[in-house]
Amino acid sequence: MAEHTRGIFNIPHLLRPIHYYIVSLTLILIIGSVQISAQSLSAAADLNKDGDMSPLMDTDDNIINAHGAGVLFHNGTYYLFGEIKKGNTWLVPDQVWECYRVPAGGVSCYSSKDLKTWKNEGVALATYPNSPVRELDTGRVLERPKVIYNSKTQKFVMWLHTDDKWYGDSKCGVAVSDSATGPYRFVGSVKPNGQMARDMTLFKDDDGRAYLIYASEKNATMHVCLLSDDYLAPTTRYKRILKNDNREAPAMFKSNGKYFLITSGCTGWSPNAARYAVGRHPLGPWLRYGNPCKGPGAGTTFQAQSTFVLPLDNKKDEFLFMADRWDKLDLESSTYLWIPFTMNKGQFFIRR
Ligand code: DGJ
Repeated sequence: MAEHTRGIFNIPHLLRPIHYYIVSLTLILIIGSVQISAQSLSAAADLNKDGDMSPLMDTDDNIINAHGAGVLFHNGTYYLFGEIKKGNTWLVPDQVWECYRVPAGGVSCYSSKDLKTWKNEGVALATYPNSPVRELDTGRVLERPKVIYNSKTQKFVMWLHTDDKWYGDSKCGVAVSDSATGPYRFVGSVKPNGQMARDMTLFKDDDGRAYLIYASEKNATMHVCLLSDDYLAPTTRYKRILKNDNREAPAMFKSNGKYFLITSGCTGWSPNAARYAVGRHPLGPWLRYGNPCKGPGAGTTFQAQSTFVLPLDNKKDEFLFMADRWDKLDLESSTYLWIPFTMNKGQFFIRR
């Protein structure tokens, strides 16, 4: 019996080194993943306590010029793209609304590993001064650039709002590049399915399909349009959503199989209350909800307007709400508000 008992205990004894190995490996993996999670969480949480990113500097100690921005996360690097607003702000005459303008300096690109240290990668999409015949003339409107990667074509695709100074053209432009930072080659502009398109964003789903989301019908109704497989053109598959809600500044993200769309109201450059909607699919149906912002300042989105929601790497339920704090009398001096938030059982709040 004693022999037998010893025999039983001998077997695990022989396996003990393997056990140690397995336990140690498991501990290393657990500690490692906690560290990775902690890193990305702190990257977001440390950005700034109240989300005010003013001033947001690059590694050359220059103020980051990336308005109406979007972020592409590709191969471990975050790429920030935004409107370069440079020069004097002026008011387009004979307009009954806040039609303030600044020269369209093109699209900037900055890269970062941690969302805190940003390297200026130069002008991703260039504009041309005094070239009224060109779509990318500095006198026109180029807003809200967003970039996604197409793994089939291995191209980086940028969409942005292109317009005349009165916002009469109401088109979306598309540009393409072999590298994330560019330079991007302008392909052309389009009114998707003949429809007006102003404030816009892109959303790339897990299945590789991509959607263009834009304020249409004179900003009354938002449209969501499936892009072609190469992301370079709209398809005929589109849906009208948030009908007659007069929303703009769309920012779409996905969590636990559901789609979320944050928008602003239409009050020119002045801030207003955000709202959000939840969909089962980008093409709908969408259910409208209220203001995701809570606490003091929520009624004006904390003096800001949505532009993008970034899912944080390694953190399934952590996101970064990105918004613009417009200075309508000096648009170049506009700043940014970046607030991390957590999705909790399908609910989220944005608070400072
Ligand atoms: C609000 C939009 O969201 C901005 O992108 C810009 O188009 C201004 N309106 C113009 O007033």
